[in-house]
Amino acid sequence: RIAYVNGRYVKLAEASVNIEDRGYQFGDGIYEVFYAYHGRLIDEALHFARLTRSRGEIGLAAPMSDAALRVVIQELMRRNRVGTGLIYLQLTRGVAPRDHAFPAARRPALTMTVRPKPAPPEGLAGWHAAAITLPDERWGRCDIKSINLLPNALAREAAKQAGALEAILFDTTGMVTEGASSSIWIVGADNVLRTRALDQRVLPGCTRAALLADVAAEGVTFREEGFSVEALRGAREVFMTSATSFVKPITRLDGAPVGNGAPGLVASRLYTRYLARLK
Ligand code: PDD
Repeated sequence: RIAYVNGRYVKLAEASVNIEDRGYQFGDGIYEVFYAYHGRLIDEALHFARLTRSRGEIGLAAPMSDAALRVVIQELMRRNRVGTGLIYLQLTRGVAPRDHAFPAARRPALTMTVRPKPAPPEGLAGWHAAAITLPDERWGRCDIKSINLLPNALAREAAKQAGALEAILFDTTGMVTEGASSSIWIVGADNVLRTRALDQRVLPGCTRAALLADVAAEGVTFREEGFSVEALRGAREVFMTSATSFVKPITRLDGAPVGNGAPGLVASRLYTRYLARLK
């Protein structure tokens, strides 16, 4: 496997960064994850816009133009012979003697890796996945796709230990924020589809944004508004979305079945729409 490190394509096993990189020492950086399907980046414009936004919010300059970034991504996929897979892109404030405040010299460090991911299955029949609920212990700017993922990693590990796929997080008022690495949606007992409105407690998911058009096209009753853990527990359907998980129903929550315990109708319809958009 080949990685991209600051202008060079190197063997992944030999790709390394300086131990004084601020990403390594302070988590001073941001990232993006793209899904490519047969060489095409899905929701590409949304991911590039979010990259620019995350970067801007922490005062990092663009390492190159978006057009040049696209060239690097395509070249990395070519060199790895990966057409369908995930691209991980990380941008940090680069190498400087350790000091919390920003260094005078601006030398952002850009790294990228690619790995294959099988194409999504044709349908959701037989799919089941569990989730657990946990307090959201992250910082107050989760709208920035920061590389500081310790609370997310801890939540995901707790989920794994419980035999679950995702941890669904809730804030101090008992309202659901999002998953450890996904956006969360429910179809409530009132048959209304909901996902939390964007604020600084959640990442503006690209899959979430793209799906809003599908929601409208399906004619599903939808409200962009928060919901409580209680509403989550009483939901007919719960599903998560992300570039890596697409649209994935949660069929068990904290050990109890969600709805009738099988993937729901709304999730299945949106999944079908998602597949149609891929092809
Ligand atoms: N995570 N919320 C969080 C906290 C996330 O980390 C992600 C994505 C999402 C969904 O965003 P999108 O639809 O743009 O992928 C929501 C990526 C995939 C990751 O960290 O691997």
